[in-house]
Amino acid sequence: MSFDVDQVHAELTLDEKAALTSGSDFWWTYPVERLGVPAIMVADGPHGLRVQPGRGDHAGIGGSLPATCFPTASAIASTWNPALIRSIGEALAQEARASRLSVILGPGINLKRSPLCGRNFEYFSEDPYLTGELAVAMVDGIQSRGVGTSIKHFAANNQEHDRLRVDAQVDERTLREIYLAAFERVVTTAAPWTVMCAYNKVNGLSASENPWLLTSVLRDEWGFDGLVVSDWGAVYHRVPALEAGLDLEMPPKLGRSPREVAAAVRAGQVPKGLLDQRVRNVLELVRKGTPTLDIDEDFDVAGHHALARRAAAESVVLLQNTNRLLPLRPETSVALIGEFARTPRYQGAGSSEVNPIRIENLIDELTALHGDVQFAAGFDIDEESDDDALLNEAVATAQAADTVVMVIGLPGSYETEGLDRSHMRLPANQLAALAAIADVNPNLVVVLVNGATVELDPVLEHSAALVEAWLGGQAAAGGIADVLTGQVNPSGRLAETFPHRLEDNSSYLNFPGDSHVVRYGEGLYVGYRGYDKCNQDVTFPFGFGLSYTTFEVDDLVIELTGRVGDGSLAAAVSVSVANTGGVAGAHVVQVYVRDPESSVHRPVRELKGFTRVELQPGESRRIQIDLDQRAFSFWSEVHNQWVVEEGEFVIEVGHHSRDLPLATTVFVTAPSLRLPLTADSTLAEWIADPIGRELLIEAADAPPETLQDPDLVRVAGTMPMATIAAFGGGAPDHETLGRLVAVWQERSAAEKDDPLDMGTC
Ligand code: BGC
Repeated sequence: MSFDVDQVHAELTLDEKAALTSGSDFWWTYPVERLGVPAIMVADGPHGLRVQPGRGDHAGIGGSLPATCFPTASAIASTWNPALIRSIGEALAQEARASRLSVILGPGINLKRSPLCGRNFEYFSEDPYLTGELAVAMVDGIQSRGVGTSIKHFAANNQEHDRLRVDAQVDERTLREIYLAAFERVVTTAAPWTVMCAYNKVNGLSASENPWLLTSVLRDEWGFDGLVVSDWGAVYHRVPALEAGLDLEMPPKLGRSPREVAAAVRAGQVPKGLLDQRVRNVLELVRKGTPTLDIDEDFDVAGHHALARRAAAESVVLLQNTNRLLPLRPETSVALIGEFARTPRYQGAGSSEVNPIRIENLIDELTALHGDVQFAAGFDIDEESDDDALLNEAVATAQAADTVVMVIGLPGSYETEGLDRSHMRLPANQLAALAAIADVNPNLVVVLVNGATVELDPVLEHSAALVEAWLGGQAAAGGIADVLTGQVNPSGRLAETFPHRLEDNSSYLNFPGDSHVVRYGEGLYVGYRGYDKCNQDVTFPFGFGLSYTTFEVDDLVIELTGRVGDGSLAAAVSVSVANTGGVAGAHVVQVYVRDPESSVHRPVRELKGFTRVELQPGESRRIQIDLDQRAFSFWSEVHNQWVVEEGEFVIEVGHHSRDLPLATTVFVTAPSLRLPLTADSTLAEWIADPIGRELLIEAADAPPETLQDPDLVRVAGTMPMATIAAFGGGAPDHETLGRLVAVWQERSAAEKDDPLDMGTC
């Protein structure tokens, strides 16, 4: 089955065109059978498919076909392993092909602004660079097998509270550097077939009706040529959405929206050419998705389960390992405590919920690898109050064993689409059970199952070893058992900071907003950018993770090439990394850039590169991490563009955001970007500008030192020249000032910046 887009486009009636800009039901596009245009299917989701049988139910919330449930995004982000994520993408695509699914509605790449967001388990990280790199791998993996993706939710959808109405008020620099950056990276490097707009408003306009987002930034600046689909039910006014850049409304408001669109074109309110463009985007998507309809393929169920297990194990972050309690020694007798060991939590609730092909539990998996373990539930997952009988049994079981493995975590009701948490605490009954167990057996390994960060200080008080296992998908238990027993050496690193308390998080004062408004008052200072700027101690920093071996980095060399002027500045960061311990393992070498002096406020440091290296004991390797010009840039609201300012930058390399033993300062030469001088520019701005300064000296006929007089600059520096002119005295009057502005414009237009743009170490 295939069709020619141009030919079909030429033959469509206006009503057919209007109909094509909505789906035909919850998961299918609109077919035009007379012209051979089929309907294609789209479905969730990010860590496993949620394909409903037949044409789905009306609300799209019923059961779905069994599919491999991979670890959720917060888990796989902790692998910092794009190659693994790419393999998961390929596997998802293979399952999509087997279900004749053309477009997977994922990955979700919103930033984790607050630990409380109910969908944090579905998102990668608090850092835009890490999110972007991992999302590119996922999109590339899926699309390499001829299945489309939908990166979502564009944009500033960072909470569930009031998500359909809330207005996210975010300054442009913060949007560009934090909330849009991962979308930009994926759009410009991986060409996702579709982008899904968010439910919320962004600076006053619904994302679905926001021309700045959907057209100016997405298409005009980033060159997106795919299709923009609405989140399910995110179209509030069909015609403004069409005008803003939304191609496809899902699910359809059957009849109503197409009627409105056709009427708007007939009335001349919407140019026909604009509808034509939207329809062309829909037809192109359907054309790309059509081959999937004819596929007759299966997928390797066992192979995908094995991949899910590998991913679950690589997602594990070892947070603490006192006295090398882990890996469990074969001769150690183990008490396995916690209902989660029998009733696993492995994914979150909502539209991403997968019907898993099979489910493992930790009792079976640990028994298989370690031999007999004694299980006791210890607490009830769905209760917050103590159950004495369960507790007493668990204490007795723990007392009789050499080592205790205790699984605690967030109940399913805490982590769901549509609802944010109200605090970061673990349930009180679990903490009470933990304290009671620790009292009788200090050899306590705690395994955490949760999709988002929790307060860990009350856990660290009692645990000797601490393992963050996240929501690890259907093979989570196997992956955890692999790590506990040392079959797999943990290599996960935190993609989000664990603060001591919720109040330490920079969004605390402004989350989740009220009266349908949320102000992103913390600006750029999201995640570690906030904790670092306020010099706050944290429980576990961004990028942190231990291993059963040790690593060292050494011999940092940086080579700068290119020119800022033409966008080609680049830094090759090379370093030696060595496995200095006794077992094979993988290390994630992280590169951060800091700009110690800048005309704008900047985060203390920002992640700009990383690579995961697998090393045998005693092995050392030289690796190279490449940074591009963006690694040095900020978004200038004044110049309305990305800017690199001349000066020193410090490139720091090491193990996590607060352990960066290697640092080198490089000097980057960059053309100065002049602010246009006007009568409203201040005296200080005129003095700082070489031409402006010269003109002032000429006009005032004063010796050059006058303008260096610190008293003059302190007292009058912040005053606009127009105000100074009104004061009279020796200052240029209004007429002179007008002339100076004109001469400034002439001279600065004639002067060409031609510095040598290459930076130096
Ligand atoms: C979610 C999307 C999802 C869509 C379809 C929406 O409620 O926000 O992430 O893809 O439903 O299930």
